Amino acid sequence: MAATQVSIILPTYNESQNIVGMLRSIGEIMPKSQTIVVDDNSPDGTGHVVEEYLRNTKRHVVEIIHRKTKTSLSAAIMHGIQHARGETIVVMDSDMSHPPQLIPKLVEALRHHCDIAVASRYMRGGDIVGWPVRRRLLSHIGTKVARWCLGIKESDPMSGFFAFRRSMTEGISFDGLGFKMLMEMLVKAKGARIIEIPYTFRDRTRGRSKLGWDTIFDYARSVWRLYIHSRYREERRSVRFLYKAGRFFTVGALGFLVNYLVSYASGTSAEVWYIHANMLGIVSSMSTNFVLNKVWTFQDHDFGVKRVLSQYGKFVGLSSAGAAIQLGIVYSLVEDGWSYPLSLAIGVLTAALGNFLLNKKITFGEKLWS
Ligand code: GDD
Ligand code: MN
Repeated sequence: MAATQVSIILPTYNESQNIVGMLRSIGEIMPKSQTIVVDDNSPDGTGHVVEEYLRNTKRHVVEIIHRKTKTSLSAAIMHGIQHARGETIVVMDSDMSHPPQLIPKLVEALRHHCDIAVASRYMRGGDIVGWPVRRRLLSHIGTKVARWCLGIKESDPMSGFFAFRRSMTEGISFDGLGFKMLMEMLVKAKGARIIEIPYTFRDRTRGRSKLGWDTIFDYARSVWRLYIHSRYREERRSVRFLYKAGRFFTVGALGFLVNYLVSYASGTSAEVWYIHANMLGIVSSMSTNFVLNKVWTFQDHDFGVKRVLSQYGKFVGLSSAGAAIQLGIVYSLVEDGWSYPLSLAIGVLTAALGNFLLNKKITFGEKLWS
């Protein structure tokens, strides 16, 4: 293996108690690799500790990048990749949670049959030691979200331990948010052959985790952005359907507000009879609902006069039909001896769903399930 065939990226933020152990262990296991520590000016002096180690070791190639400020883990990793000379790149945590003993296996997998090798905690043979229930749950939810929303098939898309061919990153623009470098790669690297290898994650014994609310927020943003760009998007009909339903009901809720505010504002002025004020409220909310559903919910940007008028007519008609359906259901159930609250819930839900489906199909000319 040539001297710099493998580059190992070690991001650090306040890891002065862990980094030397990591470097030693990597030096033993991968003596011919290039190791790049990317430190974000850690207040605990991790950068100096590494410099000190560099002065005293000739065993393997270690370099350090001092970044001025802490931005995000992904950004730090990307910075490291720019300095990597290896054709194969390994990314891992520097707090001893990721066993360096697994590096050769990841590298080996890349040499033969894949482009990205992921060390997985969530496949058979993998495990997590030392995490409290809360953290396990969080990670579990995050993983499910990634797999469900983005169609990722791998068991551990949030892994911080993975290896890949450098060529995999060419042509991909990473947004560099939060902790989610691998997830971006899994979504954006089209046609990559991916393999997972199980390992046991052991929570750090020294120092503290840097994963906080900001990381969770960044995660949500990444998933959203990736969802928008996702190559799976076209295939995920269920997701598109749910998004439209969500927007439709959001518009509906806004409609209540418009209705109330307009009825209230016009009804309190002396010149307007309160019944007229109410009608004005109803018409206003139907109109704003119509416009919002057209441009936002169903993304229909065709504003031909004839089309708009006919759609508006259908929309108003169907919305009134929805109200009639609700009344009909509540009446017949209550008369049948059902309790009023339950009947009302069934009536409202049926009317809302019916309203959505009918408008989707008839007013906006879409397939029901799309
Ligand atoms: N340079 C730099 N800048 N390094 C950072 C930053 C940063 O902003 N934030 C974190 N790190 C480094 C830490 O010093 C550590 O080496 C590694 O990145 C992982 O950070 P931890 O704070 O130890 O993360 P964790 O153990 O809570 O999270 C683990 O599980 C996540 C998924 O559940 C890690 O494996 C994550 O990579 C993983 O995404
Ligand atoms: Mn950690």
